[in-house]
Amino acid sequence: MVRNIKPLDQETIRQLAAGEVVERPASVVKELIDNSIDASATKIQIYVENGGLDLIRVVDNGTGIPRKDLELCVQKHATSKISSPEDLYKINTLGFRGEALYAIASVSRLRIRSKHGDSPGAELECLSPGNTRIRTVGMPQGTQVEVRNLFYNVPARLKFIGGPTSEASRITSTVKQYALGHPNIAFELQIDGKKQLETFGKGNILDCIGSVFGLQIRDHMIPVAYEEDEIEIKGYVSLPSINRSNRSDIHVFVNGRPVSAKQLMFAIQESYSSLLMVGRFPIVIINLLIPPEFVDVNVHPTKAEVRFADDRRVASVVGRTIRTALQEAFSSRDAELPQDDQPQGKLRPLAFSFNSASISEKHAWHVTTSTQTHQHIESTSTEATSSLEEERTLPKLPPLRVLGQIALTYIIAEGPNGMYLIDQHAAHERILLERIQKELETDKVASQMLLDPLIITLGDHQATFMKNLVDELNRLGFEAESFGVKEIIVRSIPAILPKEEVMAFIEDLCQDINNFSNVELRRNAVAVSLACRSAIKAGQQLSMQEMRSLIEQLEQTNFPTACAHGRPTILELTKSQLEREFGRKG
Ligand SMILES: Nc1ncnc2c1ncn2[C@@H]1O[C@H](COP(=O)(O)OP(=O)(O)O)[C@@H](O)[C@H]1O
Ligand SMILES: [Mg+2]
Repeated sequence: MVRNIKPLDQETIRQLAAGEVVERPASVVKELIDNSIDASATKIQIYVENGGLDLIRVVDNGTGIPRKDLELCVQKHATSKISSPEDLYKINTLGFRGEALYAIASVSRLRIRSKHGDSPGAELECLSPGNTRIRTVGMPQGTQVEVRNLFYNVPARLKFIGGPTSEASRITSTVKQYALGHPNIAFELQIDGKKQLETFGKGNILDCIGSVFGLQIRDHMIPVAYEEDEIEIKGYVSLPSINRSNRSDIHVFVNGRPVSAKQLMFAIQESYSSLLMVGRFPIVIINLLIPPEFVDVNVHPTKAEVRFADDRRVASVVGRTIRTALQEAFSSRDAELPQDDQPQGKLRPLAFSFNSASISEKHAWHVTTSTQTHQHIESTSTEATSSLEEERTLPKLPPLRVLGQIALTYIIAEGPNGMYLIDQHAAHERILLERIQKELETDKVASQMLLDPLIITLGDHQATFMKNLVDELNRLGFEAESFGVKEIIVRSIPAILPKEEVMAFIEDLCQDINNFSNVELRRNAVAVSLACRSAIKAGQQLSMQEMRSLIEQLEQTNFPTACAHGRPTILELTKSQLEREFGRKG
């Protein structure tokens, strides 16, 4: 069908523009909360009916809108927040485009009541686009915006949004997010007359975390903080034991604005690498304070995307800050997990903490000289000890006395709290992972030369990224070059990797290259694969000396309780659990 080109009529233009800002009920809620925050409100109440389609009412105690401005604020590009193009480069309010109220007025029945200073309150009613009515009303200081019959005039939009329940849940997520990012503001959300969320505005992020996620999660969050030059970071992140199946609880705020920034997401994920299983994500609430001129928020109408003057630096600072906080938590001795919420008689992963009662005993238990028979373990021992010395502060594992090996796979040990089982492969994997990461950081991967070079034939698909593969191998302590279209010749391999694992590792490497387009995430995955392939296996007999040495080295690591894949290395069965199981104690 051929149609003539003609200019769109005003109403269509209005609705197109509105669609960008108000995609669904939750976007209305977001814009209205933004406005309340910009008006310095300390209390924001949100009432929603029928998923926001019948009613969204946002009530704040902010500065209010002068009566003379009421009509202006629903006009296109009317804003009190910026006045010149230069202002766009240093935005310190959440709104600035002056289009939210205009857009909302275009697709709903909008009513704004506001009281500013000593003047009486006024109510503006938008009857139809451009047709408004003002009257005086009695009300407390602040602003009350009421949006009824959202999208009544855009039936097409209604088709694209979910039912009331799913829209209500989006609204709840939006409000929760703001509540987490603004601990100084008291938020209240009511949906169909039921209170869904309440925070108290006391300025404490942990309180807000408790209100949003519950107390159990609140107690498993650790603080992160950083301040240098222009960047300040404040917030909380979850211990790896608390995690989610998606990224939806990674909340990043830049100067109070909830944002999505890819680089930051990667950095956050990376800081948890090897502490969380693949496909699991932490809970993160961080607020970045950066001078507005270093942040571009004018990337998209919803203002959820931001760019930083120095994206890489911001991402790396965020990553390092979280990593440091996690390391500190793992080495903290007083951070004790609550014992009583553990299921009876169950072995549980040793969290990051332990009872610090008998540190001195520990040294008596541990052998200091090592005359290991197992070459593989011994060689790591000496080096790991020396290179990690400067980082060692507090012991991260309970003092353990090795008793023996079970099923040629698990080391059984006694400790201050009871019995411990250590997965030998998982433990060694953690040790090797941190060693590899150190070596890679300093570009000094120890390698061993092969007596006979290996020739590896790649599959057709693998051969397509031959160059990538060879580069990566050489970075990892291999000496490899391509040889024909499908062959790779390998002359040296990383010192820790047993020769018989080379093929399997290269397979892993091809997959990692395939799966991760982000370089940092890929590098982590590769280090994990290398550690996994190099670590002693289940089914391998270990001497008492070797087992002691393994535990000693595990203790030297930054994250001794998780293997490279984030699974536990060590399980605990406490004395009191044993007593209960044996019926000695109720
Ligand atoms: N809750 C509120 N309290 C005080 N002023 C408000 C409030 N909501 C809107 N306003 C005023 O209305 C103007 C237009 O709002 P909006 O359309 O959201 O644009 P923007 O927030 O981008 O300025 C704002 O600049 C502000 O002056
Ligand atoms: Mg606004």
